Amino acid sequence: MNAPLRRPLIAGNWKMYKTIAETQAFFDQISPLIFEVDHCDLVIAAPFTSLRRAVETGEKLGFGISAQDLYWEKEGAYTGEISAAMLREAGCRYTLIGHSERRQFFGERDQTVNRKLQAALAAGLMPIVCVGESLAEREAAQTEAVLQRQLAAGLAGLTEAAFSPIIIAYEPVWAIGTGRTATPEIAQQAHAFIRNQLAGLVSPLAAERCRILYGGSVKPDNISGLMAQPDIDGALVGGASLDAGSFAAIVRYQETR
Ligand code: PGA
Repeated sequence: MNAPLRRPLIAGNWKMYKTIAETQAFFDQISPLIFEVDHCDLVIAAPFTSLRRAVETGEKLGFGISAQDLYWEKEGAYTGEISAAMLREAGCRYTLIGHSERRQFFGERDQTVNRKLQAALAAGLMPIVCVGESLAEREAAQTEAVLQRQLAAGLAGLTEAAFSPIIIAYEPVWAIGTGRTATPEIAQQAHAFIRNQLAGLVSPLAAERCRILYGGSVKPDNISGLMAQPDIDGALVGGASLDAGSFAAIVRYQETR
């Protein structure tokens, strides 16, 4: 069971999928399927162009809307970038930061994660900070060293008070989009390690309160085993969040426990 001080959170990460019309259709379809769900927080991370529609249709259904990335400057000559204040104005309450696809394909580094994190917090966004090792790093027994580095550099310079809205997502890169989910035991081990690191980096109480989500091939048939782990407080769902039926089944994980 999750400790009562950590409310479960199920988040969908749509990546570069869903137009405005498809965003509307998703919320229309999921509406009757999540009726009366109140055991967890619900989040959808939509592409920039669909955020406004997601806010307008999703918030009424209880979803908090998240961006998938942001830039750390307030404004300026940064062609193609979006600021935290722009996301707030669009109605976002959350933002992903440091997703492994940003790290792999778009040059995200621990230092840029930290700058984005500071900007998001200053604007009142709740950051979902993604960490996780690659297959090569896991096979070389570097998982803990990678997580330690990503957390220490990514969270550098935060006070305990500033840390409190932060959500961490543990997403082993080898499990993302591969259908190869971490077993609940492997995921639990990494989550416990992360919580331990947070205790040292921030404080034991902050670590105890921090929600740590698992991400990487989460599906309706593996979510309940993951959620049964003591340090897994929710999920960040990619592929299976695109379909209203499968995302609703994940959200209702406690019914199949
Ligand atoms: P996946 O993606 O569920 O498709 O593996 C997870 C993520 O990238 O957040």
